[in-house]
Amino acid sequence: MASLPSSSPLILVLSLIVISSLTAASAGNFYQDFDITWGDGRGKILNNGELLTLSLDKPSGSGFQSKNEYLFGKIDMQLKLVAGNSAGTVTAYYLSSKGSTWDEIDFEFLGNLSGDPYVLHTNVFSQGKGNREQQFYLWFDPTADFHTYSILWNPQRIIFSVDGTPIREFKNEESIGVPFPKNQPMRIYSSLWNADDWATRGGLVKTDWSQAPFTASYRNFNDDNACVWSNGASSCTSSSSSSSSEWLSQELDNTSQEKLRWVQKNYMIYNYCSDSKRFPQGLPPECNMP
Ligand SMILES: *[C@@H]1O[C@H](CO)[C@@H](O)[C@H](O)[C@H]1NC(C)=O
Ligand SMILES: *[C@@H]1O[C@H](CO)[C@@H](O)[C@H](O)[C@H]1NC(C)=O
Repeated sequence: MASLPSSSPLILVLSLIVISSLTAASAGNFYQDFDITWGDGRGKILNNGELLTLSLDKPSGSGFQSKNEYLFGKIDMQLKLVAGNSAGTVTAYYLSSKGSTWDEIDFEFLGNLSGDPYVLHTNVFSQGKGNREQQFYLWFDPTADFHTYSILWNPQRIIFSVDGTPIREFKNEESIGVPFPKNQPMRIYSSLWNADDWATRGGLVKTDWSQAPFTASYRNFNDDNACVWSNGASSCTSSSSSSSSEWLSQELDNTSQEKLRWVQKNYMIYNYCSDSKRFPQGLPPECNMP
């Protein structure tokens, strides 16, 4: 092969095959986009890369991370959470940078007894500081089927959405001195682990190991609209050429703002911005912004 001239039709055909198979695979292939990083076989990629499962038993949980690092992106993933008695288990799905002044954008799903509601816990860290929790119940059973959990992260805002419905917005308020994650590339991480010292009813309900292994499933990862970081530079892509990089300045339109208010009014069970006992010196400054 190496001895063929590069203009050889054979090489051309072979490279076309390679290119088209790469294109086909880019519709969210876990082999291509992620590495299982821990759990000694408890994390699995199945169905030719279309499905990923994590599991947890008494000896260990498991986890994976993205091959890419991103500096801004609109990242979708579908998750189906641990069914039945999932009390004590936590499924974390988040973006994070490295180092002691890291940035992080978190979804964490806190399990519960059969029939009792999961809690979706969210947080935003900038430069190593978090303490910005908001928690929600969901308006559906997140264990019955796959649902889409999305993070839109652009220089002006971070929007957490569930099935396209925004549940939380964290705006860039650097102008009033609140650090905003915008300089450190982040990787996507997920893990399933035992946190029965705090997760369910504040640690009152323990993991029932007779139900193990516990399993969470992932599919339809989409990072078509994202800036991938490589060798100190980021290169941005978008799925549709007409609205190229619209996501980089996207904000909530009126309909989405209305949906956000609906979720916050009906499903939010904890908001750090309403917890004045926790902040006796005064609420964090972003809490006083519209
Ligand atoms: C579990 O169910 C109880 C009872 O409905 C509820 O108070 C709690 O918020 C639920 N979720 C967690 C993670 O504890
Ligand atoms: C959205 O709301 C703003 C004010 O809240 C209003 O001026 C604007 O016309 C609205 N846009 C649409 C499309 O309804």
